[in-house]
Amino acid sequence: MTQIKACLFDLDGVIVDTAVYHFQAWRRLANELGFDFTEHQNEQLKGISRMESLELILGWGGVQLSEAEKLAWATKKNEWYLALVMQMTPNEILPGVQAFLTTLRDNGIKIALGSASKNSKLILERIEMLSFFDAIIDGNNITKGKPDPQVFLMGAEAVGCTPAECVVFEDAVAGIQAAKAGGMKAIGVGSADVLTQADFVIASFEEMSVEKL
Ligand code: BG6
Ligand code: MG
Repeated sequence: MTQIKACLFDLDGVIVDTAVYHFQAWRRLANELGFDFTEHQNEQLKGISRMESLELILGWGGVQLSEAEKLAWATKKNEWYLALVMQMTPNEILPGVQAFLTTLRDNGIKIALGSASKNSKLILERIEMLSFFDAIIDGNNITKGKPDPQVFLMGAEAVGCTPAECVVFEDAVAGIQAAKAGGMKAIGVGSADVLTQADFVIASFEEMSVEKL
């Protein structure tokens, strides 16, 4: 069995629960455009880019906009979202995350971020976790979003590891698919009913240990 040398973490919904803030901000956008969508539909927005999310949401509402209007609404959504992000504190780090990352660091296992978000550094700063990461690959670096494996392949390369030496932690179906497409082990964070393609699923990092990698 290949030895695991790096862990690649998604951000939203894995390190912090910003997924609820994304949902709030997207719902506000939908409501202002005269419709609503459900938490179940919101699952599909996890892991995908801002503009792809907007396209899906507009499709649900049957709303057609010009490219300029789409950009303007995406900018508004990001402003609402950032207003929520700016209120964040280290208290919002999900249970067990800091302890697990500390153990990884103590065991010489590299730590990288693989996120679709363009706001990832800002969020890591807010929660005072920037210094944990040996590499950060996010929405500002990638040309292809999850389920394409690009974000994780770039993460593996940035920490000098092969895909087989990496484990990915993901809360999104698209993220699990990206990890598997990249030839990496994928651990789901959330519900096993949703993350069916993961190698295994944890409800929280409190269940996680280096031995389980
Ligand atoms: C992902 C989230 O991490 O980042 C998505 O799961 C989000 O919901 C995407 O749309 C892009 O985020 P941002 O911060 O660049 O709008
Ligand atoms: Mg996520």
